[in-house]
Amino acid sequence: MSDIYNIQSPFIGDKVKLRALEVSDLDNIMRYFNNYETRVGLGNIIPISYKMEEDWINSAIERAKAGTAYIFVIEHKENGELLGTCGIEDISTISRSATLGIGIHNPENFNKGYGTDAMICLMKFGFRVLNLHRIELWTFDYNQRAIHVYKKLGWKEVGKRREVMFLQGKYHDAIVMDLLQNEFEDIYKEEIVS
Ligand SMILES: CC(C)(COP(=O)(O)OP(=O)(O)OC[C@H]1O[C@@H](n2cnc3c(N)ncnc32)[C@H](O)[C@@H]1OP(=O)(O)O)[C@@H](O)C(=O)NCCC(=O)NCCS
Repeated sequence: MSDIYNIQSPFIGDKVKLRALEVSDLDNIMRYFNNYETRVGLGNIIPISYKMEEDWINSAIERAKAGTAYIFVIEHKENGELLGTCGIEDISTISRSATLGIGIHNPENFNKGYGTDAMICLMKFGFRVLNLHRIELWTFDYNQRAIHVYKKLGWKEVGKRREVMFLQGKYHDAIVMDLLQNEFEDIYKEEIVS
C-alpha cells in the first residue's frame, strides 16, 4: 500500500475538523456570528442578516467551484458542534498566493485551542493541498489573542496598514502577516506522517 495513506488528512486536527460549508449551516452560523466580541475581532460590528449570510455562503460555494476560495466549517472533532468558519481566499494561480481568514463564533469557545488547531489544518491545506507559495493574513492592533496565535504558529509580521479601520470612535492599524511555503515546511515537516 502506498505511503500516501499514512499521511494525516489536513482536514483533521487534534480538536477540530474542517468540512465543506453548506447552505444548511446558516442557522448554526447565525447563532453566534453577530456576537459583539466576535465581530470586534473580525473588525466589523454592524450586525448581518440571515439573507446577507445566506448570500455569502452561496458566493463561497461558487468561488470554491471556480477554485478561487475555499471556506470551511470548523467543527468540534468529537461532538460535531459548529465552532466557526475559516478559509483561504483570493487565490492567485500565477503567484500561488492567497489570503487566510478565521473566526471562532462563540466567545465561550475562545482560548480552548480550537483556533490554533484549525489554523494548522488550514495551513496544511494551503501549502500541501493547494501548493501555495505564500499566504497572507491580517488582523487589527487590538486583537492580541489572534496576533499571539499567528506568531506562535510561525507567521511573520510584515507590515501595517496604518489607521485603516475606524471602530467605536478610534482608528486602528491592520497588522499584515505572512508565511511562505518553505518556512511552513521547516516548522511542520515532522508532522507529515501521523
Ligand atoms: C483569534 C481566534 C481565531 C483564536 O482562536 P482561539 O481558539 O480563541 O485561540 P487558542 O485557544 O487556539 O489560543 C489562544 C492563545 O492566545 C492567548 N491569548 C488569549 N488572550 C490573549 C491576549 N489578550 N493577549 C495575548 N495572548 C492571548 C492564549 O493564552 C493562548 O495562548 P497559548 O496557546 O500560547 O496558550 C479566535 O479567538 C477568534 O476567532 N476570535 C474572534 C474572531 C477573530 O478575532 N478572528 C480573527 C480575525 S484576524
